[in-house]
Amino acid sequence: MVANGGGPRTDPFLVLGIETSCDETAAAVVANGAAILSSVVSSQVDLHARFGGVVPEIASRAHVELLTPVTAEALVEGGITDGVDAVAATVGPGLAGALLIGVSAAKALALVWDVPFVGVNHMEAHLYAGMLEEPDLKPPLVALLVSGGHTMLVDMKDHGRYRILGSTVDDAAGEAFDKVARFLGLSYPGGPAIQEAATAGDPEAIAFPRAMMDDGYDFSFSGLKTAVINYVRKHPDVTTPDVAASFQTAVVDVLVAKAVRAAEECGAETLCIGGGVAANALLRERTAEECTKRGLRAVLPSRAMCTDNAAMVAAAGWWRLQADGPTPLDVGVSPNLSLPV
Ligand code: KG4
Ligand code: ZN
Repeated sequence: MVANGGGPRTDPFLVLGIETSCDETAAAVVANGAAILSSVVSSQVDLHARFGGVVPEIASRAHVELLTPVTAEALVEGGITDGVDAVAATVGPGLAGALLIGVSAAKALALVWDVPFVGVNHMEAHLYAGMLEEPDLKPPLVALLVSGGHTMLVDMKDHGRYRILGSTVDDAAGEAFDKVARFLGLSYPGGPAIQEAATAGDPEAIAFPRAMMDDGYDFSFSGLKTAVINYVRKHPDVTTPDVAASFQTAVVDVLVAKAVRAAEECGAETLCIGGGVAANALLRERTAEECTKRGLRAVLPSRAMCTDNAAMVAAAGWWRLQADGPTPLDVGVSPNLSLPV
């Protein structure tokens, strides 16, 4: 592997992205912040499944083992023979130990190859996933970011200029899927398991609460989780598919209602969704439907771009490099990093 050795910026400008914020070890090469040359994701789901959630120490150790082969694969698949022009890695939010593995590796590669290092915000990366697949997509837009750790509605005025309209006051949407799935005895991660179980259920079987539905842009999912637990305890004969379908519909109703209202009230023409929960089939279908009704453009990144990957990190890193220049090598990881406003 030959690096670009600090020479003049090439065209295309190649960014190696590295993502290790949670339980996916990922590396990708993206040209000019837009064209994915390779995107390799190694999921640790099997390692964490028996615990019903991500175990931070196991995640860190697995990243150590997987990051070198995953990065090598991304470079080979991307046909990289003349080096890359920058290395980007997620610096937060995420698990401290897990973030440290990717950030340390990215800094080491940037140093050895004599190219810039760029620290990336994981939620900003989820936002840029939509732009990777729809190259004409530009701000202003409203984005609904729904993952295992975060749920937020963002008014993106321009590149790097955000206004957080609302976020969850308790559990994230993905966390609610994972906790309810665990209670129902479904597999981890809970989102896909609930979606699968729901296909055989009646979404109107149980009228679960839609918290804060008409009340600003914040979200609350912890009461819904408790309502599911209480209902199942009171009605032991209820079927898992009916609970899964009714729960999923309650979550999606709130997410979609608030997201389209935010897009309309902000005067945005585009509503973009991102984060692992944006892989949910019902959320995608309902977002598309409601946007069509209102003449809004709906941007629904492919499922692989919704869940954690490094192509989105490379894309966001490319934009950050244009805006702010390289990140100093002494920057640390930030487990609670918020979206820059
Ligand atoms: O963005 P992501 O891959 O990792 C984080 O940054 O958290 O999101 C993971 C979350 C998990 O809570 C998972 O259950 C949820 O996304 N998820 C889904 C689906 N696929 C993944 N939730 C609902 N439906 C899905 N199909
Ligand atoms: Zn994520």
